[in-house]
Amino acid sequence: MQFFIDTANLDQIKEAQALGILDGVTTNPSLMAKEGIAGEENVMKHYKAICDIVEDKVSAEVIATDYEGMIAEGEKLAAIDPKIVVKIPMVKDGIKALKYFSKKGIRTNCTLIFSAGQALLAAKAGATYVSPFVGRLDDISSDGMILIEDIRLIFDNYQYETQILAASVRHPLHIIQCAKIGADVMTGPLSAILQLLKHPLTDSGLAQFLADHAKANSK
Ligand code: G3P
Repeated sequence: MQFFIDTANLDQIKEAQALGILDGVTTNPSLMAKEGIAGEENVMKHYKAICDIVEDKVSAEVIATDYEGMIAEGEKLAAIDPKIVVKIPMVKDGIKALKYFSKKGIRTNCTLIFSAGQALLAAKAGATYVSPFVGRLDDISSDGMILIEDIRLIFDNYQYETQILAASVRHPLHIIQCAKIGADVMTGPLSAILQLLKHPLTDSGLAQFLADHAKANSK
């Protein structure tokens, strides 16, 4: 399973990249705003700065929701760097935009997916990735992982090449569940990725090893 980090924070992206396990980055307008990035020029510069840190696959989201606007914006974003994946919201004109970019060979990520039907439509339009939001479904007492299972089944039934990018991942258990189901990619915060490291028996076991080593070598 590929690991993407879901942030526009350059320090966190650098930290994840330095770990050697990072496959890509996802951003959205809220994450950009959180970093205080505003204005077209600054936004473009920030995407370029992210592309300069990672090897590939940086999702950059369009703000427009009409076809012409999404095409114009998506083309500008794609021109920043070949690593850019144009992120398109799941709206009617978004389906047309996905088809347009697919024909042009520009990678896309269809975002704000909350149903299997939406994922199926995006796959038919040639999306490179669909982003089902697991955490936000959990937030409304609906099991986000059932959606990942349903999309996996449908995409496998028809051998769609569209990849399932499980988004709105909030904690390490989400990551494990995504891996068990067979999501192609998960995107989450650095904290969730780092929590995978943790086990109390690892900590106590290491402390014991180091204490035994110190004792044996102090004689
Ligand atoms: O990739 C989508 C993601 O940013 C949404 O996450 O935690 O805001 O639901 P969250």
